[in-house]
Amino acid sequence: MAMVCPPGLTWQRCCFYPDVMAGGAADLVDPFGRVIRDLRISVTDRCNFRCTYCMPAEGMEWLPRGEVLTFEEIERIARIFVERYGVDGIRLTGGEPTVRAHLTTLIAKLSALGIDLAMTTNGATLRNIAHDLRSAGLNRINISLDTLDPERFEAMTRRDELHNVLAGIDAAVEAGFDPVKVNTVVERGVNDDEIVAMATFGRERGIEVRFIEFMPLDAEGHWVNDKVVGQDEIVAKIAEVFPLEQVPARGAAPADRWRYLDGAGTVGVIPTVTKPFCGDCDRVRLTAEGQFRTCLFATEESDLRDLLRSGADDDAVAKRIEAAVGQKWAGHQINQVTFTRPARTMSQIGG
Ligand code: GTP
Ligand code: 5AD
Ligand code: SF4
Repeated sequence: MAMVCPPGLTWQRCCFYPDVMAGGAADLVDPFGRVIRDLRISVTDRCNFRCTYCMPAEGMEWLPRGEVLTFEEIERIARIFVERYGVDGIRLTGGEPTVRAHLTTLIAKLSALGIDLAMTTNGATLRNIAHDLRSAGLNRINISLDTLDPERFEAMTRRDELHNVLAGIDAAVEAGFDPVKVNTVVERGVNDDEIVAMATFGRERGIEVRFIEFMPLDAEGHWVNDKVVGQDEIVAKIAEVFPLEQVPARGAAPADRWRYLDGAGTVGVIPTVTKPFCGDCDRVRLTAEGQFRTCLFATEESDLRDLLRSGADDDAVAKRIEAAVGQKWAGHQINQVTFTRPARTMSQIGG
């Protein structure tokens, strides 16, 4: 007898995963067989920094407050991902997530879903709020830091805040976040002379520093391939001073990782440009105004806010999510002439 998938179910959710018939969670699988496990939620497009590789110095237009998803709307979408599709990791992003008022209220709501809840932040306010974030249920934290030089920090972020970020990293460790990771975007001619210094910073504190290849998502369109310092060059520079061995099995995480042979921890590289890792991607994204994106570099989005605000039920929201994931592409094409930059900048996507 021929099997017919019930309406609203893709074949992956129906025939391959019979537990959906019993009402349990079923994998959300894209056309290339990649299972979605990780949801990145941007809680605001606003930011208290203006990093040159992300935002213009002036002239960013913020979303009007009424266009930003409420905590109830975010929780509803998150619940659909967790309960229907078994998504087990959620990361809060921005803009800068800590500028969203009452963030701990949202953290408590999402933490109650029983997932691995993480956040990526510029760290500037952490010295005051790290303990509250932890108490509210946040599990993990990644902090951006591109330089240890105060003047260079001000040039790169357009803010004189290095001392606050350093204090914020200490506060995150003290508050018990484990792991605390540091993200360092490397730009040739800007901070590539600090690779070993940043690695040393991580070794001394037991923090994993992840060097990020500069991506074509800056607001001012200054990205060119020559500004990218590739993974091989980064690893060679570190290994010259601190011998390394690669940690196998990256899995779906964007970072390749290495262990210091002297036992001083690990270091990572996120090699989007020189070694794309799209084949292992398990991520989808929700923007602050409720647009669903199946790729960091996606040029198309699906409007979930519209559905929510027109009274749609969860089945209708799920159907739109499944339709979008059913169209997820194989990966970005940064290294090909066909590459088209998304209309959004990094700060409007959330990284
Ligand atoms: P964990 O591995 O869970 O610690 O987090 P993460 O590295 O996924 O998140 P984080 O927000 O710290 O991102 C670090 C860098 O990886 C940022 O520059 C992100 O833009 C980049 N990144 C995160 N997810 C993806 C992805 O799916 N594709 C690409 N190309 N880059 C990504
Ligand atoms: N290229 C690479 N990484 C970037 N980030 C922001 N803009 C870029 C870019 N153009 C990083 C931030 C933060 C993370 C969310 O993304 O430094 O760590
Ligand atoms: Fe996933 Fe797109 Fe990132 Fe590739 S570029 S890993 S497909 S989000």
